[in-house]
Amino acid sequence: MATPQTDAALTDAARKYGVLAMPDLEYTPELAKEMAPAYEPVSKVIPPIEWPAFAPYVKAINRLKAERNAVILAHNYMTPDIFHCVADIVGDSLQLAKEAAEADADIIVQCGVHFMAETSKLLNPEKTVLIPDLKAGCSLADAITAADVRALREAYPGVPVVTYVNTTAEVKAECDICCTSSNAVQVVESLGAPKVIFLPDQYLANYVAKQTDVEIIAWKGECIVHERFTADELKATREADPGVKIIAHPECPPDVLAEADFTGSTNGMIKWVKDHRPAKVLMVTECSMSDNVAVETPDVEFIRPCNLCPYMKRITLPKILDSLVYLKDEITIDPAVAERARASVERMINLKI
Ligand code: 13P
Ligand code: SF4
Repeated sequence: MATPQTDAALTDAARKYGVLAMPDLEYTPELAKEMAPAYEPVSKVIPPIEWPAFAPYVKAINRLKAERNAVILAHNYMTPDIFHCVADIVGDSLQLAKEAAEADADIIVQCGVHFMAETSKLLNPEKTVLIPDLKAGCSLADAITAADVRALREAYPGVPVVTYVNTTAEVKAECDICCTSSNAVQVVESLGAPKVIFLPDQYLANYVAKQTDVEIIAWKGECIVHERFTADELKATREADPGVKIIAHPECPPDVLAEADFTGSTNGMIKWVKDHRPAKVLMVTECSMSDNVAVETPDVEFIRPCNLCPYMKRITLPKILDSLVYLKDEITIDPAVAERARASVERMINLKI
């Protein structure tokens, strides 16, 4: 539930645009009727017993979004109530970064993790960028600091540095160019260098190294969600069900990727399922993505295991509503850091890959 804000707790954006009244969140028979069309598409993945808790928020958020001239960007790992019911734009990190650059709104509410909101702010310095929970971090972003990057540059003079977008703005500011899991190989090769430092994900670095002649110097970061999958569990799934297709995110360890029929970014995985329509698929990634794709591919059976990202799951409808009412939490980046970090992100976007 939203909590009243004291004046001292107001964000700059709330002082500029004002705080709104918290909407009525009662689930009345009238509201049930009004929201029935919104429930229909997600009824496969949201049980009827849960909908009364979501529906008042869905209605309130969509109304306040229009009132605030706000846009909601949501990552593919958001839960279906967010992904299908309140988001304006959904996608992987690359798509969200590109869409952020084009955003035609006063306010961006980033439903994803902190580095994604920072990327939106870098590309929209004049706009208000909000994240519904400041603690929505990322183990990869926590795995490396700007000082670590400076030390790497000293250890490997003249070697260009590519950073996965899952890093802080401070780290991006020390790097030559960003990449995402959609374009990592192309970004590395675009530099025309024989050797590249690639950070912070050791598994994505390993995946890239297998597909290019460029020598990759990797950092030792890992995603706490994808590192938990094991090749043994995938082998057991295939043994039990030989027809199953296994598709994996490149943040998984190499022996896990070796078991996969396809490896790609979250958008790449979604496209693969939509294009191939397997009878049964195991998406080796965050849990919510299977639910989100299942809404659009009723002919495909999704089997688990999957793992939850505790950071992504901090974003909820009540917190999104709080963001719109109180305009919190606002993303701010030191201008000197922002200028250099923006250059890293823009170099990637300008490659148009
Ligand atoms: P994508 O860019 O593939 O969406 O990946 C982001 C992420 O954090 C995966 O864990
Ligand atoms: Fe970070 Fe992993 Fe969560 Fe993606 S899934 S946000 S890489 S911790």
